[in-house]
Amino acid sequence: MYIILCLYIWPSAPTVAPSGLGGGGGDHNELIVTWTTMAREYQNGDGFGYILAFRKKDSQSWMEMRIPHVESSRYVYYNDSLTPYSPFEVKIKAFNRRGEGPFSQMAGVYSAEEEPTVGPSNINATALTAFEIQVSWEPVQQLSANGILRGYEIRYWRQHEREAAADRVRTAGLEATARVSGLRPSTRYHVAVLAYNSAGTGPPSPRTTVTTRKPPPNRRPGNVSWKANGSAVTVRWDHVKAMHNESAVLGYKVLYKHEGQTSLKVLDKAKTSMSLPLPKDNGYVVLEIRSWGEGGDGPAHEIIVSRDSGTGMMVQNDASSTLSSQPLHLFTGLLLFTLVSLVGL
Ligand SMILES: *[C@@H]1O[C@H](CO)[C@@H](O)[C@H](O)[C@H]1NC(C)=O
Ligand SMILES: *[C@@H]1O[C@H](CO)[C@@H](O)[C@H](O)[C@H]1NC(C)=O
Ligand SMILES: *[C@@H]1O[C@H](CO)[C@@H](O)[C@H](O)[C@H]1NC(C)=O
Ligand SMILES: *[C@@H]1O[C@H](CO)[C@@H](O)[C@H](O)[C@H]1NC(C)=O
Ligand SMILES: *[C@@H]1O[C@H](CO)[C@@H](O)[C@H](O)[C@H]1NC(C)=O
Repeated sequence: MYIILCLYIWPSAPTVAPSGLGGGGGDHNELIVTWTTMAREYQNGDGFGYILAFRKKDSQSWMEMRIPHVESSRYVYYNDSLTPYSPFEVKIKAFNRRGEGPFSQMAGVYSAEEEPTVGPSNINATALTAFEIQVSWEPVQQLSANGILRGYEIRYWRQHEREAAADRVRTAGLEATARVSGLRPSTRYHVAVLAYNSAGTGPPSPRTTVTTRKPPPNRRPGNVSWKANGSAVTVRWDHVKAMHNESAVLGYKVLYKHEGQTSLKVLDKAKTSMSLPLPKDNGYVVLEIRSWGEGGDGPAHEIIVSRDSGTGMMVQNDASSTLSSQPLHLFTGLLLFTLVSLVGL
């Protein structure tokens, strides 16, 4: 027992190698190596530190760095001639006053990334609606990415505005197309695309311009009426006419909602009426009727049609008004499901 204890505390060189070797990242011209600080019981005595060895992958000679700090867990090697994102091999051992321990396993670490050196080309932007454009481009080759290409940044700014004040959105991956929304109608935008990696963005592509479409009419379909029989509701509305500064109406959309389920019917502009099934249970259906066209969708007119045993109820509701000031009509008795209501806007 006495002898074992003596051997255990007797100072000697470290006998195990540090673990958790890794690294990467950092600023230009840096190679960052990290490891797990060695616990005191493995230090085997005073004068403790680490010896870090590294070399460019596939080269012969190792460079060694002596790091005489017990608590170190990170080393930053700086060299002006380090190329961005190049692979290195690293290994590490511990030392104390008695000598050096064994080297750890080798680990692969990359030097710091730098921004991509080239930008996307052939950028193309088209207006989808008054509020949305689609942008596409020729992707950047991975070789010129100076690191791992993460995606693309789309910058867009209004004509007469400064590019420095551009709004920007980033793709999450390497797709070469993106939609940008939240734009102003009938507005000319400049657009440029840049590749990015963890170090930042590269140079911008040549810029292009795009003009968003005129806004959709800001009126909902008017004079909406509906008629329900036992199994269906037929709804009618008046045409929405676009003004000179609005985009043409190409048709109507009727959104049908019942018990959390929705289905959308898209009609061309020749149709201004539609029949839809009424639920057999005591539920209700919500209908939203709106115009659609090149500028996008117009505001909706909302109708709620419900029925329960012996009672048919309809609520005329202006979808965009925040005050619920619309009248509620309650019909009871013999009238049941044959209801017609005329509503002027
Ligand atoms: C920097 O790297 C070059 C080329 O690999 C090497 O010759 C030089 O010794 C390095 N300098 C330092 C300070 O490590
Ligand atoms: C730009 O995109 C539009 C729509 O995607 C396409 O019709 C057009 O051909 C494209 N133009 C160029 C130059 O790629
Ligand atoms: C509303 O529609 C009904 C039926 O389609 C029609 O008779 C009536 O003239 C319309 N009212 C207005 C104000 O357009
Ligand atoms: C109710 O109206 C729908 C659509 O107009 C029609 O197909 C159906 O036959 C009608 N049902 C009754 C009971 O009148
Ligand atoms: C469109 O023009 C009308 C007058 O003709 C004006 O009242 C309205 O604000 C304009 N709308 C837009 C979005 O510019």
